[in-house]
Amino acid sequence: MEKKLTLDTITSFAKRRGFVFQSSEIYGGMSAVYDYGPYGILLKNNIQEAWWKSMVLDRDDIVGLDSAIFMSPITWKASGHVDNFNEAQIDCRTCKNRMRADHLLEKYGYDLDKAPIEEINEVLSKLKAEKKVKCDKCGSTDLTDARNFNQLIKTNFGYPVDSLNNLKDEDVVYPRGETCQGIYLNYKNIMDSMRVKLPFGIAQVGKAFRNETVARQFIFRTREFEQMEMQYFLHPSIMDEKYEYWKNERWNWYLNVIKLKPENLQWKKHTKLAHYAKEAYDIQFNFRSLGGFDEIEGLHQRGDWDLTQHAKFSGKTLDYTDPATKEKFIPHILETSVGLNRILLAVLDQAYTEEDLGEGKSRVVLKIPAQLAPIKVAVFPLQKDEKLKPLAEKLYHELKADMTAEFDDSGNIGKMYRRQDEIGTPFCVTVDYDTLNDNCVTVRDRDSMKQERVSLKDLGAKINTLITKKAL
Ligand code: GAP
Repeated sequence: MEKKLTLDTITSFAKRRGFVFQSSEIYGGMSAVYDYGPYGILLKNNIQEAWWKSMVLDRDDIVGLDSAIFMSPITWKASGHVDNFNEAQIDCRTCKNRMRADHLLEKYGYDLDKAPIEEINEVLSKLKAEKKVKCDKCGSTDLTDARNFNQLIKTNFGYPVDSLNNLKDEDVVYPRGETCQGIYLNYKNIMDSMRVKLPFGIAQVGKAFRNETVARQFIFRTREFEQMEMQYFLHPSIMDEKYEYWKNERWNWYLNVIKLKPENLQWKKHTKLAHYAKEAYDIQFNFRSLGGFDEIEGLHQRGDWDLTQHAKFSGKTLDYTDPATKEKFIPHILETSVGLNRILLAVLDQAYTEEDLGEGKSRVVLKIPAQLAPIKVAVFPLQKDEKLKPLAEKLYHELKADMTAEFDDSGNIGKMYRRQDEIGTPFCVTVDYDTLNDNCVTVRDRDSMKQERVSLKDLGAKINTLITKKAL
């Protein structure tokens, strides 16, 4: 029977093996902020590069962008975030636990996602009067009313320190709450500087910041995170057709590139929509560590909301004239939006395996797709030996010129294999005494633990083929 994977197990594994650390740990840690260690950043870069390749490099209709984290604060007024980007929270007066109102009330059978605060408080009062609703941490019934918290983080530019506690509205700047706003603000620059015509997309990867008041889900929901977003600009008449196309593209990317198992993926159609959305579907992944399916990517039909609002607030013309028909219109936007950190968690969650090897032996193995693995190959001399070590080192340097590689000569072959298994290294190469005579090494496959002798002259090419094929 498959062993249950808890969030604690994956969190401590990620720390122990250098993937993810809590931010500012030596100062007691910051909640919902995380740092990526040496293997975490390699894995994150590999996922990001795979997304960039399929969304930008492999296509003729999408260009890339890297816009700034700070934008004119008017952006967030125009986008609706200042007024509408709120989350209703309920506090427990006994243990000070803060809970998302819609999540808490869902447990009592109410779907209040994106409901107005008045409606939430009406339900809450009824449940409180019946002493039904309880703190999800300590069970107390002494709860506050729901209050709205805006999710944009506020800061300021270049004002004296003492004004920080006293920010006037006009002094506020916001680290971006979603990366796509930088795309809308550069739509005109890209139209004017690049040879693009509708339909076309602009893609970018970057940090976003949100005042997540409830954040107890490791890197699933954090205050600082990375989004990979693509905004596709089009005539509204082709929206439905392109929406189906992009739903397929994105689904297949998870299956074929990230290698998430089909049984771990599902669609969720939104019935309650964000203020900008006309139609929205999420791709959800079955996180064992979170106890079920949850969102990894949203595909939204945003209509002409964004460009209309920015045209209105900036006074600039953002409409498009079709070169063939001369029709003038505000392009509609189809968005694909995914959290890089969430994909990383999904990859770790699916890959983490505790295997019983019999005779009281076991191993932890990260069955990560070879193309995403932080380290592709590890090279060991079989023993600490004057003759084997230089040969293994030479081989390591040759392989490292072409792929991420590690060298280990600590001498205990079992321990060296286990360490590489845990960080998901797909192939280990051992230089032994026979190598001195036959110029062959042993290549071992992480998942099957199968071993094969491979000639030194074929090794680099063989490993590269195996990385794409994934197994011996
Ligand atoms: N531009 C649309 C937008 O931002 P969203 O549904 O709020 O839509 C899109 O976010 C994706 O960004 C989510 O599917 C998720 O993967 C990621 N995301 C959102 N909030 C996050 C958070 N607090 N921590 C980590 N990832 C987050």
